[in-house]
Amino acid sequence: MPEKRVVLKNCGIINPNDINTYLSQDGFKALKKALNEMTPEQVIGEVKASGLRGRGGAGFPCGLKWELVRNAAGDEKFIICNADEGEVGTFKDRYLLSNDPFTLIEGLAIAGYATGAKRGYIYLRSEYHHLLNLLTRAIAQAKEKGFLEHFTLEIREGAGAYICGEESALMDSIEGKRGEARFKPPFPTSEGLWKNPTSINNVETMMNIPQIILNGAGWFAQMGTEKSKGTKVFSVSGDVKKPGVYELVMGSQLRELVEGLALAEKVKIIQIGGATGRILPYEMIDTPLSFEGTLGAGGVTIFNDSRDVVDIVYRTMEFLAEESCGKCSPCREGTEVMVEILERFSRGEGQERDFRILNELSEAMMLASLCGLGQAAPNPVIDSLRYFKGSYESRIREKVRGVTA
Ligand SMILES: Cc1cc2nc3c(=O)[nH]c(=O)nc-3n(C[C@H](O)[C@H](O)[C@H](O)COP(=O)(O)O)c2cc1C
Repeated sequence: MPEKRVVLKNCGIINPNDINTYLSQDGFKALKKALNEMTPEQVIGEVKASGLRGRGGAGFPCGLKWELVRNAAGDEKFIICNADEGEVGTFKDRYLLSNDPFTLIEGLAIAGYATGAKRGYIYLRSEYHHLLNLLTRAIAQAKEKGFLEHFTLEIREGAGAYICGEESALMDSIEGKRGEARFKPPFPTSEGLWKNPTSINNVETMMNIPQIILNGAGWFAQMGTEKSKGTKVFSVSGDVKKPGVYELVMGSQLRELVEGLALAEKVKIIQIGGATGRILPYEMIDTPLSFEGTLGAGGVTIFNDSRDVVDIVYRTMEFLAEESCGKCSPCREGTEVMVEILERFSRGEGQERDFRILNELSEAMMLASLCGLGQAAPNPVIDSLRYFKGSYESRIREKVRGVTA
């Protein structure tokens, strides 16, 4: 199946520095329609009926999130756009922000109207500082044209922490605190930014909104699978001939993306959804790309037959241990112990009993960690032990040192 450009529709077509080029592509028509012809409840109803789910990894239904915020008690409400994109191998939001900031602004302005939030923030990853001027200009142009009279939109920059992509740590960061995951409940929809009802939405999620409002929920819901409607934007990198950003209808096969579009050869290992995502062997290349199959935030990293999974998982766990916020001990200590064990394997000094420790530790971390980082950190370990146990065993038998040891 070829690419289907819904979210990427304007990328490469409009000039991201000039709002007029966006207006000539039906830009801000959806916002006008929402403001002039629809009640906030109707907007929420349309988004709910579309089946749009969050594109930041967790897949929470967007319309339901907005409804919870709209119905929550309190006069002050907030919209936050999560543009932290710290996930390893993920760069689709950067591409979207660079090429089409206006669709995002329009989506957020519609979100503000629907939820009753009068203020919104785009939380921009510190490494995307080079996009600050472009985004600031785009917001200023939208304001000048009168599209942001009901909604004030500002940008807040991160400071380089992976955990600040997690929604509660992100809110701490905007509030000026050190970003750490909060206990949940209360959820952000009732007690979010400065304890006010808050909807936190990924860049790509918001960029689906204008077309849902313009073309209708039915148009959107006809694309995809039963539980995964619309398209998904992927970032593909690693051992491929054509790395880049691709958009496919939900439910497409991983093979279409990896071999068909990115032209990968001799694929051995596929990491989907970044550091806390899944690790699949080539034999699973016909897995559907959907919430029912596998997805994450859409980062896909390919490793060919010259790579060894033990090295990949060791490096991934080092990243997670470094980025753990340290608030809860299962994640803080668990990731460190995993690094120690994986490093032993990488040096060719792993032992049989390490398998039991890795499995028990994984279970404890998934059950007891405070947020998604610690809960999902064991994923690469679990998957690699399931599909590539032989690689670990040969390190024990042959005492091979890995390339990263
Ligand atoms: C450690 C960690 C990092 C995350 N990083 C991001 C991120 O960079 N961007 C993002 O949109 N969501 C990220 N998330 C998910 C957010 O917590 C949240 O689910 C998302 O922003 C909600 O938006 P959505 O419903 O539109 O997907 C992260 C979650 C965790 C646990």
